[in-house]
Amino acid sequence: MRCLFYWMLVTVSLIEVNARLQKTFYRSFKCQNHKCSRTLRPLAEPPRIGTSLEVLEEHSTLAACRLVCDPFAALWPIPTGLTTLGNKYTEIHPYQFKFVTSAIPEEVKSFVDEVTGIFTHNLQSFCDSEYLAKNGTSIAVTLSVDSSDLTLDWLTIESYSLDLRFDDSGSKGEARLTAQTVYGLRHGLETLLQLTAPVIMQGGIRGLVIITSANIKDAPEFVHRGLSLDTSRNFVTVPDILRTIDGLSSCKMNVLHWHVTDSQSFPIEIKRVPAMTQYGAYSQAKIYSTEDVKLILKYGKARGVRVIPELDMPAHSGAGWEWGEEAGLGRLGVCIGSQPWQEFCIQPPCGQLNPTNANLYNVLREIYKDIIDLWGPSEIFHMGGDEVFIPCWNSTKEITDAMLSRGLGQEVDDFLQLWSEFQASLLNVVNEERGKAGGRNVSTILWSSYLTSPEVIEKYLDKNRYVIQTWVESSSPIPRQLLNLGYQIIVSTKNTWYLDHGFWGNTKYHTWRDVYKNRIPKTDKVLGGEVASWGEYVDSGSLDPRLWPRTAAVAERLWSNPIRMSTAKVEPRLHGHRDRLTIRGINSDAMAPEWCAQHDAECQ
Ligand SMILES: *[C@@H]1O[C@H](CO)[C@@H](O)[C@H](O)[C@H]1NC(C)=O
Ligand SMILES: *[C@@H]1O[C@H](CO)[C@@H](O)[C@H](O)[C@H]1NC(C)=O
Ligand SMILES: *[C@@H]1O[C@H](CO)[C@@H](O)[C@H](O)[C@H]1NC(C)=O
Repeated sequence: MRCLFYWMLVTVSLIEVNARLQKTFYRSFKCQNHKCSRTLRPLAEPPRIGTSLEVLEEHSTLAACRLVCDPFAALWPIPTGLTTLGNKYTEIHPYQFKFVTSAIPEEVKSFVDEVTGIFTHNLQSFCDSEYLAKNGTSIAVTLSVDSSDLTLDWLTIESYSLDLRFDDSGSKGEARLTAQTVYGLRHGLETLLQLTAPVIMQGGIRGLVIITSANIKDAPEFVHRGLSLDTSRNFVTVPDILRTIDGLSSCKMNVLHWHVTDSQSFPIEIKRVPAMTQYGAYSQAKIYSTEDVKLILKYGKARGVRVIPELDMPAHSGAGWEWGEEAGLGRLGVCIGSQPWQEFCIQPPCGQLNPTNANLYNVLREIYKDIIDLWGPSEIFHMGGDEVFIPCWNSTKEITDAMLSRGLGQEVDDFLQLWSEFQASLLNVVNEERGKAGGRNVSTILWSSYLTSPEVIEKYLDKNRYVIQTWVESSSPIPRQLLNLGYQIIVSTKNTWYLDHGFWGNTKYHTWRDVYKNRIPKTDKVLGGEVASWGEYVDSGSLDPRLWPRTAAVAERLWSNPIRMSTAKVEPRLHGHRDRLTIRGINSDAMAPEWCAQHDAECQ
């Protein structure tokens, strides 16, 4: 009885307390010592938007707070050149950006229109459709580009400079964006986009603000900043690939290395050799048609992302290669599906091309004619070249007999010789076809392997024809050794930049911090690096969180390559970029409890 009485008393008094408390609050964000943290405001007193040029203490969104509170305005990646940023912002509407393109060469005008269209589209995604323009504000963005060349490769100059200022009333803005190429211009627009932030307007509508002064000079540290995406172990849909390109472009990554085939499936349509997908695709639905490929390439280019295809060979080739004998061409691949697989390959199902079958090169020629039709005659290709399993070739009488008849034995060196001849023949075939299509001879990228080991590489692979993509641990001396021999390299650090690690065997998951801290050698011969998404344990269901935000961490490593920047310092900015990715429809993995994102530096 007494118990019930007390219970009633407490309940009644809580009801009174509840009545006295505010019912709803704005979450707003205060900037102190370059750190944003959440605070509450009564609903009746929303934080003001900076309509005039004043320094605000409190902001209606975390993004707006970061824009003026973070020393780098939450830019991701941070610029490498001289950068000065203001600490005020003004309200703006996407339609109030006016692009002046009179200094754009005629040949690239339509490309630039596409690029500004993408900018406006991305900007619109920051605010609600009901958001109305504040009258009288506008910003004229004067674009200028020197080059009329649309080539995107390792020689493309991606630098830009951006100068932004508003008049004292905060209503007339002027931006000058200058670049040598359209790709530098595109990066500059990505930066300009990052100088805006969503804010909460009256009625809870998402509006937009832009920083009122900025002066930025920027250029990447590495020319090759990529993601390697495996679409063979598990199929990745075209929309997934396009969304991934959106993510890459948001942080100025410029390469999607498309590891399109492997021994498990051959999902790319080859019009001249339809048997490849007829035999090799997981299903009719899991094929990249020629139209799909064209779309992906065009989509990438407009976003500054070069798509480099890899049909992995001579190992990692099984699916799609089964039909040779039936077609009267002999065995194009050997050990296909052999069991016990451990005796014939590194991962099931087995399959390795048969370099001693002359018909193979005719089929490869037809395949690459299609690839050249799609990619153009002068684009570089990745030709795989990893994990050739000597016991497979050594157990195939047809191959060892052919080797014997040419005076080769069965020692490791003999197989390396055979393998290197395969690579050279393939490259010659491709370069011949490039020539016929009006292109020039181009080198090729190969994964590191026994063939590329520093002790033997010079015997087998010409340094002017092969770029080596190393996939060794950060402690390995191999990248340095290859550099010392004069080879150009791309670095995919096997522990930290392998996004599949932590999902199989005893591999270890590496957080975005490990990814960020991984530094690669910096010399003229280091083209850059790639983070790698191997496809065994990832498909559409898990792709985004597997890639993001870790790929963004690599992006800043490769664009800015900061030397003295602790991950603790970087974290709020990366939270900010993660939020931008979310707005663009990319589902990044969580980095921390949201509380930590809302309270800079309090979770370290
Ligand atoms: C902007 O100004 C025009 C005319 O001055 C007016 O008709 C219009 O309603 C205004 N728009 C807003 C959103 O205030
Ligand atoms: C190839 O197989 C033969 C036996 O058939 C063996 O003697 C030789 O060592 C093998 N070569 C390699 C490189 O393993
Ligand atoms: C290009 O490569 C082909 C095939 O390897 C070769 O025959 C030709 O001489 C090369 N051309 C040049 C200009 O190097």
